[in-house]
Amino acid sequence: MLIIKESRELNSFLSLFELTGLKVSFVPTMGALHQGHLALIRRANQSGGLVVCSIFVNPTQFNKAEDLEKYPVQTQSDIDLLKANGCDVVFLPEKEEIYPNGTEYNLPFDPEHLDEIMEGKFRPGHFKGVAQVVHRLLELVQPQELIMGEKDFQQVAVIRKMISDLELGIELITCRTVREKDGLAMSSRNQLLEARYREKAKVIYQSMVECSQNLKSLKPSEAIYLALEQIESAGLKPEYFELVDPLSLLSISDEQIKGPIQACVAAWAGDIRLIDNMQVRH
Ligand code: PAF
Repeated sequence: MLIIKESRELNSFLSLFELTGLKVSFVPTMGALHQGHLALIRRANQSGGLVVCSIFVNPTQFNKAEDLEKYPVQTQSDIDLLKANGCDVVFLPEKEEIYPNGTEYNLPFDPEHLDEIMEGKFRPGHFKGVAQVVHRLLELVQPQELIMGEKDFQQVAVIRKMISDLELGIELITCRTVREKDGLAMSSRNQLLEARYREKAKVIYQSMVECSQNLKSLKPSEAIYLALEQIESAGLKPEYFELVDPLSLLSISDEQIKGPIQACVAAWAGDIRLIDNMQVRH
């Protein structure tokens, strides 16, 4: 596995690789890798071309400085995991490689309503930061395929819109959320959870499973009320529990008695914020 830190070196390598005519499949990450990330690497491998993974903790997507500071950095063990799971190139850029002209947002892309709901509402500027870094990474890696996890459901929707609006011609492939045995979605933040909150955190998954049952007899607004109550009585602080259309991410009204529904949740487990989602009606 190649470890590349400079975009110039990446570019020379990719120009040679292009001669093979094979695809480049790209998995962007912020490191602190877990089984969820490794599932993305394995999916990238199935395409049979070059698997590139980036590790870059992007400052522009953190709306609180302390979140950026406490983000876990474990580059050597990440490299070992990537090597063991079939990654061909790991790209480890410095901030200057990603933002040579500063971090000001100047992409001709507007996430529109996606920036105002759920994560967008509670983390102002987050999705513009994500779009900015993913766009820059795509420019450097020039992949045919971009592989992302469904755990960050709204992030996927933003990137899908960016690829379409900017006509980037890249195939976006998504992979299912990988969960711990008790249902907690794998996340780099889980390792920051205090032991007592780690145990309680499974309620997020349980609330979505119960919501799916409740929707068979209750209205969406009633199912949301019960889910919020369930999360709160388990000792977490829910920020939102929304039922949305999986494509538009617009809220489902009580009158919409048919069609798919995605539950999207954010809750604080102590001072760690967790998010998750699940299709609760098909
Ligand atoms: O999902 C993440 O880890 C990040 O938001 C991403 C896509 C790597 C951009 O920094």
